[in-house]
Order: sequence, then C-alpha cells, then structure tokens
Amino acid sequence: MKSTLLTLATAMIVTVVSTTTTFAGPGHEHGDGKHAGGHMDHMNDVLQKLKTELGSEYGKPVPAASKEQLVLGKKVFAQSCVACHGASGKGDGPAAAGLKKKPADFTDTEHSKFYSDQGRIHIIKKGIAGTPMSGWEAVLNEQEIQSVHAYVRSLRNSANKEKHGHSNHAH
Ligand code: HEC
Repeated sequence: MKSTLLTLATAMIVTVVSTTTTFAGPGHEHGDGKHAGGHMDHMNDVLQKLKTELGSEYGKPVPAASKEQLVLGKKVFAQSCVACHGASGKGDGPAAAGLKKKPADFTDTEHSKFYSDQGRIHIIKKGIAGTPMSGWEAVLNEQEIQSVHAYVRSLRNSANKEKHGHSNHAH
C-alpha cells in the first residue's frame, strides 16, 4: 500500500513534468462536456494507436463483471485512480485541477464507449503517451487491472442514462 502510493506519487510527478514540458502549445481543454476539435483529434489518434497495437483483440468482448471483480475494482480505484478520476469517476479528483489534459468522465455514456473495452484495458496497462494517464501494469496485477476496468465500466450508466446521442462520436 505504501509502495503503491509512492509509485503513484512518482508517476504523477513524472507525467506532470513531462506533459508540461512537451505540451507548451495550445492545450486540449475539455470544455463543458462538449468535445472540442483538438480533443477529438487526440482521441482519434489514441484510437488508431490502440487498434494498431491490439489488432483483432481490439474488438473482442470483455465478459460481464463478477461481483468479486467489482469489489476488488472499487478498492483498486480508490487507491490508485481517485486522485485524478475522482471518487465518482467524473474526472474531478483533487489532482485533476492541475492537469492540462483532464481525466475522462467515466459516467459519460457517450464518451466512455469511445474506446472498446479491450482498448480501455490496454490504456490502463500502458497509459496514454503524452498525457498524465500512466500505465499500471508494473503496479497492479492482471486480476486487479481486469477488476478496475470492470468497476470503471460499471460507472458508465450512473449518469444520464437517457442522454445517449450519436452526435460526433464514431463508434
Ligand atoms: C495522474 C492522474 C491519473 C491517474 C492517477 C489515473 N488516470 Fe486515468 N486518465 C488520466 C487522464 C488525464 C486521462 C485522459 C487522457 C487523454 O487525454 O487521453 C485518463 C484516461 C483514462 C482512461 C481512458 C478513458 C477514456 O475513455 O477516455 C481510462 C480507462 C483510465 N484513465 C483509467 C484509469 C484507471 C483505472 C486508473 C487507476 C488504476 C487511472 N486511470 C489513474 C489521468 C489519470
């Protein structure tokens, strides 16, 4: 637990420093829930990269979460992810205020379906280059990663169930 926190702190410092130095240009503001052009470009880049790295794995379904996974996932989330993603998963954790690239809102149904489940598991393992989202495979074991993904996925329908538009997201 102590060492997890230490690793987390180090990862945050490293990523915050590297993002502030690499991204001196126009920031990717998340705005008020709408995805501005620059942010969509970034997400499309990440999407292409995920598809390249995962190949046919990308679209493979991930089985429904077990109760045990949700319990473990919630614990992992509270330890490792809340600082940025926030207790409710809305991306409003205490560390998020200082980030140039804002964490995803896991309760936003539309956004949270942008990447496939396998894509998101890959993100949790490897991180997203050039953003504060670091990879967790050195910190969490496979079971913890699968579980925290399952937990994060379970947050998807916790807000605005009825508001599922198809406006500008390619699925
Ligand atoms: C240091 C802050 C930070 C921590 C800690 C962190 N994240 Fe993130 N995460 C981010 C940011 C910022 C993004 C958005 C990156 C971008 O702009 O592409 C992100 C994106 C993601 C995404 C992609 C979501 C999407 O649909 O856009 C997933 C999944 C994710 N994080 C899961 C996790 C999990 C699970 C943990 C804990 C094990 C975690 N994150 C810890 C900052 C963080």
